[in-house]
Amino acid sequence: MFKGLVSGLVAVAALQDLVAASPSLHRRNRCTELEEFIKKQNKVSIDGVLANIGPDGAKAKGASPGVVVASPSRSDPDYWYTWSRDAALTYKVLVERLIHGDKSLQSRIDDYVSAQAELQGLTNPSGGPDSGGLGEPKFNVNLTAFTGSWGRPQRDGPALRATALILYANWLVDNGARDQAVDKVWPVIAKDLDYTTRFWNRTGYDLWEEINGSSFFTLSASHRALVEGAALGKTLGKTCTDCAASAPKVLCFMQSFWVGGYIDSNINVNDGRTGKDVNSIISSIHTFDPEADCTDATFQPCSARALANHKAVTDSFRTIYGVNKGIPQGRAVAVGRYAEDVYYNGNPWYLATNAAAEQLYAALYQWKRIGSISITDVSLPFFKDLIPDIKTGKYDKNSKEFKSITKAVKLYSDDFLAVGKKYTPAEGSLSEQFDRNSGAPESAVDLTWSYASFISATERRVGIMSRSWGERGANTVPSVCEPAPSCDVDVTFNVRATTVAGETVFVVGGITELSNWSPANGIPLAASKDTSGGPLWKAKVKIPSETSFEYKYIKKNGNGDVTWESDPNRSGKTGKECNAAETLDDEWR
Ligand SMILES: *[C@@H]1O[C@H](CO)[C@@H](O)[C@H](O)[C@H]1NC(C)=O
Ligand SMILES: *[C@@H]1O[C@H](CO)[C@@H](O)[C@H](O)[C@H]1NC(C)=O
Ligand SMILES: *[C@@H]1O[C@H](CO)[C@@H](O)[C@H](O)[C@H]1NC(C)=O
Ligand SMILES: *[C@@H]1O[C@H](CO)[C@@H](O)[C@H](O)[C@H]1NC(C)=O
Repeated sequence: MFKGLVSGLVAVAALQDLVAASPSLHRRNRCTELEEFIKKQNKVSIDGVLANIGPDGAKAKGASPGVVVASPSRSDPDYWYTWSRDAALTYKVLVERLIHGDKSLQSRIDDYVSAQAELQGLTNPSGGPDSGGLGEPKFNVNLTAFTGSWGRPQRDGPALRATALILYANWLVDNGARDQAVDKVWPVIAKDLDYTTRFWNRTGYDLWEEINGSSFFTLSASHRALVEGAALGKTLGKTCTDCAASAPKVLCFMQSFWVGGYIDSNINVNDGRTGKDVNSIISSIHTFDPEADCTDATFQPCSARALANHKAVTDSFRTIYGVNKGIPQGRAVAVGRYAEDVYYNGNPWYLATNAAAEQLYAALYQWKRIGSISITDVSLPFFKDLIPDIKTGKYDKNSKEFKSITKAVKLYSDDFLAVGKKYTPAEGSLSEQFDRNSGAPESAVDLTWSYASFISATERRVGIMSRSWGERGANTVPSVCEPAPSCDVDVTFNVRATTVAGETVFVVGGITELSNWSPANGIPLAASKDTSGGPLWKAKVKIPSETSFEYKYIKKNGNGDVTWESDPNRSGKTGKECNAAETLDDEWR
């Protein structure tokens, strides 16, 4: 039994709070029903997570030890893979449970460490072990590379895995197993931190694998990992080169996602969206530090910014889903990824709805610990939905406002769980989504992340917190944002190509440096004097290190007519060393 007596008591206290808040019989019944649902659904969720972990999980037979399968669904959609992100977020929850006493999980966590060490060593389409390969988003469940086309790289995986493993390493140190932390866990963490310091300032795909830009979720996960990674390094007598130097730069960059009252989840990309995306709410719960103040700079759950954002994001789903019809402001709604979503017609997700609850449970914890609530112009609209006549100001824990605000926020957060409850089948299985109109489960069945999100939300609800990641010492924003030092490779493109009078040769490809395939902006090659092996055309292009790209040569005549090389696309890859010279020797085809 994991929860034990203490949290059981907390849960009862929480229940009494609720009943006291609203003495009507109707509400009392609703709240008892919710308590019963949570108790049952927690067990289903823990079993659901463990069933999806190899090699013994009931629904993960055939997966390697420690591998988290995203979902047992093998078609429509095929999620029979292991994603670095989903696995890390799942193991973060399992490590927290280990820390709170469930020792039975330790062998699975050790399997996870070994499996991740193996994945870090694979060469895959994002690169090699030492040349960007850690940014590969997903792998086959037998720990081999997935080589099909995909939105890659995704740069959040290493940071999230570092966070899960840093929690574990600290627990090992606290429990007399320092050698294991040093010998087995730190080497994996060190590679992830190294990746994060080198790549945080590059674009990549977001957590929904659709947008190639700068994702708030990736940046905030990176910041947390760098801060706690630097501290763990000290504890273990190791160094994380550049962790401490990079963290404030990342924090500085994170500020530019805050745009007029909410977080724009994807920037450095022209995606035609508002940017209101549950990405930002999930970020806030992932970087929640139970010892932090309501800091705006790190978007803590109780910060004015994160609360304003909570309202902006959840409101964006109020009118677009049939299931939210008629639900008044101040009552919880079903939450999806972002309003423009069209995947499976764009539905609410269980993990998104749970995240909306979890942010508020975390905020409640912070207010109670701090002993006051400050309402500013930025957060006022969030609070007014719950208490229409509330005003800006600082409310001490003994004030009647503090009591009414915390009560209202508690009811509001429970209300998000109640929305999930309404659309959860009787046996408790959690798919990825539920239909925007009928509420019926949709897309992948038994999504591991859906279960993990339920567990973490309900643990925050009863006051089970993760340890501090050191937010207090890492929330000062530098006055000038510095980029990461650039690291480019000089790539010389050589191609032997015969041309007719007036024709010249260009190179184009799938990265900015190669004009993103635009023939009009192709990089011109110059005819070389050395024609002994046929006419040779040359161009030198600076390309970021550790970058995989596709390209082709084209010919243009005086009229601007373009002749493309025949398929397939060519592929190139730069190495790790900054300012190195590399050459591609090709022949026109
Ligand atoms: C691993 O899984 C992939 C995808 O299912 C399969 O193609 C491959 O043959 C497997 N490799 C091994 C070594 O089992
Ligand atoms: C890199 O960092 C600078 C400074 O914060 C920022 O202006 C820029 O948008 C960032 N670019 C990417 C791709 O992260
Ligand atoms: C993503 O966008 C960046 C900047 O626009 C570009 O350099 C990079 O090549 C793109 N990546 C892919 C895989 O298209
Ligand atoms: C080459 O890349 C372009 C741009 O990504 C793509 O549209 C095209 O299908 C690719 N060609 C082949 C043969 O894969």
